[in-house]
Amino acid sequence: MVNIKFLTEKIKNNKPLSKCEIYDAINAYTQNTITDEEFLPFIEAIYFCKLSEKELYYLTMAMLDSGEKIDLSKLKSVVDKHSTGGVSDTTTIIIVPICASLGTKMLKLSGRGLGFTGGTCDKLESFKGYKTDIDIDSAIELVKRNGGCMLTTSKNLAPADKKIYALRNRTGLVDNIDLIASSIMSKKLACGANIIVLDVKYGNGAFMPNKKSAKLLGKKMKKIGRLANKKVKIVLGKMNQPLGYNVGPKLEAMEAIKILKGEEKSNLYHDSVKLASICVSLDKHIPYFVARYKVKKVIKNKTALNKLKTMISCQSGSLDLFDEKYKNPTLVVKADSNGKVVWFNTKEIGNIVAKMGTVKMQETDEIVYENGIRTFHKIGDKVKKGEPIFYIYASTNLMAKEVEKQLKTCIEIK
Ligand code: URA
Ligand code: CA
Repeated sequence: MVNIKFLTEKIKNNKPLSKCEIYDAINAYTQNTITDEEFLPFIEAIYFCKLSEKELYYLTMAMLDSGEKIDLSKLKSVVDKHSTGGVSDTTTIIIVPICASLGTKMLKLSGRGLGFTGGTCDKLESFKGYKTDIDIDSAIELVKRNGGCMLTTSKNLAPADKKIYALRNRTGLVDNIDLIASSIMSKKLACGANIIVLDVKYGNGAFMPNKKSAKLLGKKMKKIGRLANKKVKIVLGKMNQPLGYNVGPKLEAMEAIKILKGEEKSNLYHDSVKLASICVSLDKHIPYFVARYKVKKVIKNKTALNKLKTMISCQSGSLDLFDEKYKNPTLVVKADSNGKVVWFNTKEIGNIVAKMGTVKMQETDEIVYENGIRTFHKIGDKVKKGEPIFYIYASTNLMAKEVEKQLKTCIEIK
């Protein structure tokens, strides 16, 4: 029987914990031999005190070893990507077909929307009929055939993290870099890729508030990855405005298509090109600028667009969205004055769209894929009085009116 009080005291007194002690604590909690009340002080101690690099690595491995690990050895080299952003981040749906077109294999497990952030799975299901819940063996077969596959995350990966994350969420202990680093890495390591690209976003639309904390989180995750013999690349990126122009599952899926058609050169396009180029460069051992040239080429000649179509079809998704045009919005929000866009409340924009029914608040909720907003400006852009600043796509006029009121507080034009 683990003496969790003794281990907690050790952390508080800055005495090192052994691998065995950390595993005992994590296993006891995951297997319900100790209660939330008994385990909480242990997590609090980590939250308030420092863990060494070794301890952080063991914590990550203990969470990883609590569940299943995906074996991708049949595929040889596989790249995984994870973004800690945010709002209007549709990079996964853009990058996976690009990399797949260039022979860089990706098996991408994604989650649903959570809090203010949209989920890649919800965006994928905007392609009517698309199956996100396929089993791993089928996913591996699809990677062999198409070079890439996007599916929902499995319940059995790092179950300790799920339980601990839920406890942290209930008790206000989420925002700690050690805990975030081990949480993300336990899941990434479980996914089995040998190359992991971590897109660490900072700003008012991301988990990390500033560049300094993003850098530190990146450094810790890289160290954990190195100790686990993985190639880890950290990419820092600003998120103080929605990454693309659209927020909402279907609108974002449509924007991903637009980018692969070469019709939009937004921040989302540039971030996607950068991330895909890094993935290809690491996987193929070629210089970044060469990879970048290839990435741009498969966008230009539509190879990546056609690859996405193939991937969607192979998982029973409809291709209708590829030819669909934006519908008329429920309501148009216009600028009150001339000026320049100087600020967005990015997190709040994410929250507003989530509350429009685009993110599950409870397991039984049905997602409204069509709802969301379109924006037309980035920070620094000029706006004329009367020009549209938001299009609102809502279930009812009443909802649209409410969203309009809220959105007006989320942009500053000066
Ligand atoms: N995302 C995670 O997966 N875990 C955290 O702790 C924070 C963000
Ligand atoms: Ca310590």
